[in-house]
Amino acid sequence: MLPSLFLATTAATLASAHTVITYPGWRGNNLHTNEDWPYGMQWQYPCGGINLTTNRTYWPTTGGALAFQPGWFQGHQTAFLYVNIGVGTDGPDHGPLNMSNPMVAPFQLLGPSNGPYPGTVCLPQVSLPTNWTMNPGDNATIQIVEIAMHGAALFSCVDITFAEPGDPRIPEVNETNCYNSSDLGFASIYTITTHAIGDTADQNVSAASSLRAAAPWLGYLPVLAGAVWLLV
Ligand SMILES: *[C@@H]1O[C@H](CO)[C@@H](O)[C@H](O)[C@H]1NC(C)=O
Ligand SMILES: *[C@@H]1O[C@H](CO)[C@@H](O)[C@H](O)[C@H]1NC(C)=O
Ligand SMILES: *[C@@H]1O[C@H](CO)[C@@H](O)[C@H](O)[C@H]1NC(C)=O
Ligand SMILES: *[C@@H]1O[C@H](CO)[C@@H](O)[C@H](O)[C@H]1NC(C)=O
Ligand SMILES: *[C@@H]1O[C@H](CO)[C@@H](O)[C@H](O)[C@H]1NC(C)=O
Ligand SMILES: *[C@@H]1O[C@H](CO)[C@@H](O)[C@H](O)[C@H]1NC(C)=O
Ligand SMILES: *[C@@H]1O[C@H](CO)[C@@H](O)[C@H](O)[C@H]1NC(C)=O
Ligand SMILES: *[C@@H]1O[C@H](CO)[C@@H](O)[C@H](O)[C@H]1NC(C)=O
Repeated sequence: MLPSLFLATTAATLASAHTVITYPGWRGNNLHTNEDWPYGMQWQYPCGGINLTTNRTYWPTTGGALAFQPGWFQGHQTAFLYVNIGVGTDGPDHGPLNMSNPMVAPFQLLGPSNGPYPGTVCLPQVSLPTNWTMNPGDNATIQIVEIAMHGAALFSCVDITFAEPGDPRIPEVNETNCYNSSDLGFASIYTITTHAIGDTADQNVSAASSLRAAAPWLGYLPVLAGAVWLLV
């Protein structure tokens, strides 16, 4: 259940209070925690517990806008966000079997607090994966994955049918349904290799533990450890 404080503070800012993917729409309200979904419905891969729908929304063959509200649950002071697409009908619900086709580089969201918070994210031009061509009338599912600070992921999807850009059936994108809230920030995600593949292969447990005994913090500061290694 959503805290009433959250509902009160967001009621004014949300065009329709039960929307998470605000543009171009979503499969349906999956914000439930109940007997059927004791852990909360949105944690269920691939689409937050809602099967393929037939009330699809139209979306451009050249890619288009995506807007969503990421703060409906606690634990997202920061979050990693992924946007993927799936096609085909081989899934158990006759939707896509695999949603493993990224549409944007993953990025980090900076939220105002660790509790539920209002606010919306707008990605004005989400592209199809490299070298993908979709034709008007083709079906697909767009998936948004939000990884909480503890590593578990929330899922939500929208089922789309592609249409030529400018097709009047594609819902209009404007400053009302697609904008970045001022209380949200963003950060890039990158990694630093601390040990290339094979670097640690000839270490055995006694070698590794004697190393840690000499420098107990080594195991906890991989970036620094990598730097020290370079200096040796
Ligand atoms: C599809 O129908 C469900 C159930 O009525 C609704 O919650 C959802 O918003 C609809 N999705 C679209 C894209 O219209
Ligand atoms: C796309 O999905 C709709 C139902 O949502 C279905 O009627 C239609 O036949 C599908 N189109 C294709 C090309 O599979
Ligand atoms: C979703 O589809 C699967 C496979 O057909 C089915 O077992 C499951 O009960 C469906 N879930 C819901 C919530 O309808
Ligand atoms: C996932 O789907 C894409 C597009 O349909 C396909 O090219 C790819 O091989 C699939 N990957 C797996 C692991 O099935
Ligand atoms: C919202 O912020 C994201 C991340 O910085 C950016 O990619 C996107 O273009 C912004 N949306 C708008 C409407 O400016
Ligand atoms: C896209 O297609 C071009 C031309 O066929 C090819 O060289 C390139 O490797 C492809 N890129 C990806 C990511 O598949
Ligand atoms: C923005 O577009 C939506 C449809 O997606 C429409 O209902 C709304 O009136 C538009 N708002 C403005 C200010 O044009
Ligand atoms: C484990 O590493 C230590 C230190 O390098 C070495 O003396 C020892 O022989 C190694 N043991 C095995 C079983 O490889």
